[in-house]
Amino acid sequence: ADFKLSISTLRISGILPSTGDIQLQTEHLATRLKQDSVVEDISAGCGIINFKVNRKLLVQEDDKFGLNSELFNTLKKGTTLVEYSSPNIAKKFHAGHLRSTIIGNFIANLKQCLGNNVIRMNYLGDWGMQFGLLGAGFAQFGCQEKLKENPLQHLFEVYVQVNKEAEHNEDMKQAARDFFRQLEQHDNEAVSLWQQFREITVDEYQQVYKRLGVHFDVYSGESFHQHQAQEVVQQLQSRDLLKTSEKGTGVVDLSTSGDTSSVCTVLRSDGTTLYITRDLAAAIDRKEKYNFNEMIYVVRKLMQSLSDINAYSTTGCRCKHVPFGLVRGMKTRKGEVVFLEDVLDEARARMLHNMSQSKTTKEMDNPEDTAEKVGISALIVQDFRGPLQSDYKFDWDRMLQAQGDTGVFLQYTHARLSRYIKLKCPCFINICYLSNEELDVLCSYDEVLYQSAQDLQPKHLVNFLLKLCHLIASAHRELPVKGSAQDVAQARLRLFSGACSVLANGMRILGITPVDQM
Ligand code: ARG
Repeated sequence: ADFKLSISTLRISGILPSTGDIQLQTEHLATRLKQDSVVEDISAGCGIINFKVNRKLLVQEDDKFGLNSELFNTLKKGTTLVEYSSPNIAKKFHAGHLRSTIIGNFIANLKQCLGNNVIRMNYLGDWGMQFGLLGAGFAQFGCQEKLKENPLQHLFEVYVQVNKEAEHNEDMKQAARDFFRQLEQHDNEAVSLWQQFREITVDEYQQVYKRLGVHFDVYSGESFHQHQAQEVVQQLQSRDLLKTSEKGTGVVDLSTSGDTSSVCTVLRSDGTTLYITRDLAAAIDRKEKYNFNEMIYVVRKLMQSLSDINAYSTTGCRCKHVPFGLVRGMKTRKGEVVFLEDVLDEARARMLHNMSQSKTTKEMDNPEDTAEKVGISALIVQDFRGPLQSDYKFDWDRMLQAQGDTGVFLQYTHARLSRYIKLKCPCFINICYLSNEELDVLCSYDEVLYQSAQDLQPKHLVNFLLKLCHLIASAHRELPVKGSAQDVAQARLRLFSGACSVLANGMRILGITPVDQM
């Protein structure tokens, strides 16, 4: 909305001297103020400065609504690599992986929306002794048909079985060691079985991620960096950074002068590398391949030393770690969660059940699809409301409430607003018919995104959208379109459709697909 500023306010507040020619002061000030894409004109009246707001901003309906901010010009832009999700083949997909997946997706969406080139990477746990066990176990308990039919399930079953067996059976243990050695020595048969496990896992994960609205540009993994890990050790050695500890292990001293020394072990005494050595190799490889300006690890715990060494001696780049808290009590009717799919199925089933109470569901084209999208938004909003570092208790009933600060409420509001979008609204409206509160909230969208970009926390955006939805609920009551004079009705319509664009846009950044019916 246009606004004015009187010189007397500035005099009282001491910004301007309390005496002098008021006309001159006004003009002088007006010429010194800068226009931007929101305030398109600044002019001087007598003792008053007028600010004229760019009307075009209020008629944009595309996905750029609210995103013309000068604020974003101050943000660093470039290539951002985000690593997230990163489950381990044949093992459980637990709540930590779910959090990493949705948080990483949010960060990648946000960075992209703010004009960065984003690379989305999944770093699979696809190497290590677990493949020795899996390979040996598959020979005994595996079944190719079951593997094709339900890969994640079958690999997990075999893995559980072989672990049990190996507890008391020395032969099994030996077979596992043998298989892993064959893998490391590139034995054709072992490698092709491993490859099959990996491919099949990635294929199935991709389908489940798709339901969640998540995708990756690259599926990398620990296996990619076996050999490079040794090269990292040599590099560190040639730069005189590798020291030998009393125990005979290879360590890098990360203490900065004056600190008590902190060391990171990168080489066992038998000369083999560790998980973190491969992580370092992976970081260097990523830097070489993608030449990122910044890398973000969305991992619950990252060895501090990893980002230290990265910044200090390997990639020399901005590396950020986004830590997050624990989720307590994530269970489905089947029991403990083992697969991502189980969580999504449960969210959909529960939402479908809730929807079946309402009569609009019967008129819906595809209630399952709506229930899936709404269920997922409930999961996301529950997770994103507080600071990411905090733990929280997973609660199906609370997150799925239609009223209250939930993803269901966001979706409900969006569905209701979508109906307004279908009504025709003129390009130019008289903004005087709109009250400031609603407009101010809509116009603070860019500030909220800016804030989220600073600390990578989704809570700012979530709480902004919830607030917006509450305002929209009262606007539905207090600013009726039907029955109002034409000019007023059109201005209000414009307000509702602007709100709908901002809401949809914000939801998409969070990783939520807005629904048009509910
Ligand atoms: N696969 C690991 C896990 O499930 C997470 C990988 C984290 N990323 C990394 N670069 N270390 O715990």
